[in-house]
Amino acid sequence: MSIVIAGASIGIGQALYQQLKRESLDAVYTISRRNTGSSNLQADLSNPADIARVREFLQEIQPSQVFCCAGQLHDQDHMPEKRLSQINDEWIFQSLRANLLSHIHLAQALDPILTRKHALKWISLSAKVGSLDDNALGGWYSYRMSKAALNMFIKNLSIEWARKSSDILVASVHPGTTDSELSKPFQSHIVSDRLYTPQQTAIRLISIMQRLSSAQHGKLLHWDGSVIAY
Ligand SMILES: NC(=O)c1ccc[n+]([C@@H]2O[C@H](COP(=O)([O-])OP(=O)(O)OC[C@H]3O[C@@H](n4cnc5c(N)ncnc54)[C@H](OP(=O)(O)O)[C@@H]3O)[C@@H](O)[C@H]2O)c1
Repeated sequence: MSIVIAGASIGIGQALYQQLKRESLDAVYTISRRNTGSSNLQADLSNPADIARVREFLQEIQPSQVFCCAGQLHDQDHMPEKRLSQINDEWIFQSLRANLLSHIHLAQALDPILTRKHALKWISLSAKVGSLDDNALGGWYSYRMSKAALNMFIKNLSIEWARKSSDILVASVHPGTTDSELSKPFQSHIVSDRLYTPQQTAIRLISIMQRLSSAQHGKLLHWDGSVIAY
């Protein structure tokens, strides 16, 4: 059995890698745009040209658990939009590449490997702000829309892969506000006991992965395992 973490160079993905290396007996591999060591495949999941190489890597290691952590909220030139007038086409496309297409490309790379006998658990890191039901504040258009699209992708994937094997479970998970580069500009608004360390979050995500059930298949989950309405 082997475990794959995609988007693992920093933040929650890196904490997952460290935690799993400490506590798991299984082989742990990473896929990252940066070179992070010997068990890493260097690939950019947002680039469709890299899917074939990722497929070869997955064929070799035959993963039984996948954590896809890729995501982006801001960069040096873009902060989340506060209003309609700040929406910019190029940033919407970039948000979709990082938050949605990275996850789609990883699933496309894995798909041919999945047979009737293959047991697989897949978690995509999403966000509660991608829930339409939960949206009371507005703003953050590109991030919210790309995470909502990711949640729909996971729902579709759960239906398609269930036809391949009853041993495949997929879910998107809100990890909770975690101290990382992604959340740094917004941490002053967070009550300190609601800002989790990457290690706390990693431990919770590993627990969700281990207990993932058919009742959670295709759902958006809170880090405690409860279901968040889409
Ligand atoms: N931190 C939070 O409070 C929080 C809250 C809710 C949801 N999340 C979600 O949790 C996930 C991990 O977040 P984090 O806090 O660990 O963020 P982070 O420290 O910024 O790490 C994000 C990861 O995403 C990958 N990535 C970033 N931009 C990308 C791009 N343009 N194309 C492809 N991959 C890209 C990077 O992978 P490489 O290793 O390939 O560079 C990086 O390891 C994200 O999906 C995020 O939306 C986080």
